[in-house]
Amino acid sequence: MSYQRPKGTNDILPGESEKWQFIEDTARSLFNNYQYQEIRTPLFEHYEVISRSVGDTTDIVSKEMYDFYDKGGRHITLRPEGTAPIVRAYVEHKLFGPEYSKPYKVFYIGPMFRYERPQKGRLRQFHQIGVEAFGSDNAATDVETMVMALAFFKQLGIQHLHLVINTLGDKATRENYRQALIDYFSAYENKLSEDSKRRLHENPLRILDSKDKADKKLVADAPSILDYLSEKAQAHFTQVTTMLDALEISYEIESTMVRGLDYYTHTIFEIMSDNPQLGAQSTLCAGGRYDQLVEELGGPDTPGFGFAIGIERLLLVLENEEVELPALHQLDAYVVNIGASTNTEALKVTQAIRDAGFSADRDVMGRKAKAQFKSADKQRAKFVFTLGEDELNAGMINVKSMASGEEKRIPLTTVYNDLTQIFDEMN
Ligand code: HAM
Repeated sequence: MSYQRPKGTNDILPGESEKWQFIEDTARSLFNNYQYQEIRTPLFEHYEVISRSVGDTTDIVSKEMYDFYDKGGRHITLRPEGTAPIVRAYVEHKLFGPEYSKPYKVFYIGPMFRYERPQKGRLRQFHQIGVEAFGSDNAATDVETMVMALAFFKQLGIQHLHLVINTLGDKATRENYRQALIDYFSAYENKLSEDSKRRLHENPLRILDSKDKADKKLVADAPSILDYLSEKAQAHFTQVTTMLDALEISYEIESTMVRGLDYYTHTIFEIMSDNPQLGAQSTLCAGGRYDQLVEELGGPDTPGFGFAIGIERLLLVLENEEVELPALHQLDAYVVNIGASTNTEALKVTQAIRDAGFSADRDVMGRKAKAQFKSADKQRAKFVFTLGEDELNAGMINVKSMASGEEKRIPLTTVYNDLTQIFDEMN
């Protein structure tokens, strides 16, 4: 009997995992520069943390949760996203207290779980790199955070992207707009999909996010939220666009964009790849402002802004744009040993190089010299040490710098006592 991985999951194998490490390292160092620190929350949460934040009528909560009752009868779900768990942690640990910096800025990297129909760029276990900033309602926070996401993609060498923004305004905006949507869609109620009929009175904003063809036609002529913005919401949005202009960042405003999560207020955004091969999965990064969520989960009135990037989608784009990521693991030294009697000395030499703080590898499969030199080449070793029986008897070893081609025969004692000098001299 043999098994396959569960549908919608991936094994990340060596060869691929180096790319993940490079992407994650790039995010860590860039986000650190913007003063974000890492946070790690559990992979599962109380169901209610997610349902109250993301919203009961969203696809994520109503169709895609990996939820279950644990042996203690608790309703638990694997996390479908990172924001709600982090807000839960922010409130639980009172990270709004005076001893913490403001805004309080965190980033996270890890797996999320959604029971979706798997396809290219859409998985059931997928991975996000995300950030959340708590405590600032300044439009500059919206803009610098979106710019940080763009900078991340730029640093990775991705070129063909565009930024799409919209606003969902404040409470007053959404109340007015909700009524306008109900009025508009009620006239076409019998044409709406079953899902959207249900949403019409529960949460009409969700109809705008429908993937149903007939719904989409009606959505095209629906009233625009931009006509219902309160004065405060309009002022915030104008500041955001003015600041994007000041930084000469190009963007489009898409007034029907609502995003698939209920917690957003004011600015929302997506960064899409222009690559046609990604189809409906072209959104690499998405996020926005959530000024009521902290309070909703029992904390003090605290604004928030964040985004999440889908790592699997990012990898597809890197592949499509043929971006070469640098090799992470270059080998400092490869030790070629010829003849069974050199086995122990080769072990000692390899270990001495490692103990001196360098990376080293050797053959342990009894391969012929030619095959060992090939391995050294393949692993891109900077130096190749060669130990034959003659060298061993003379207490010597050969060392070759692969960069300069220079070759030397040196005493084994030098390897044990003065390795750094050899590397420096021959570099
Ligand atoms: P989201 O739009 O649900 O937002 O997901 C963000 C990104 O995660 C998507 O743009 C996509 O790249 C990736 N993603 C989502 N679902 C899948 C999937 N099934 N397979 C592969 N990739 C996927 C959020 O999750 C919010 N928490 C973002 C946020 C943070 N808003 C404020 N702070």
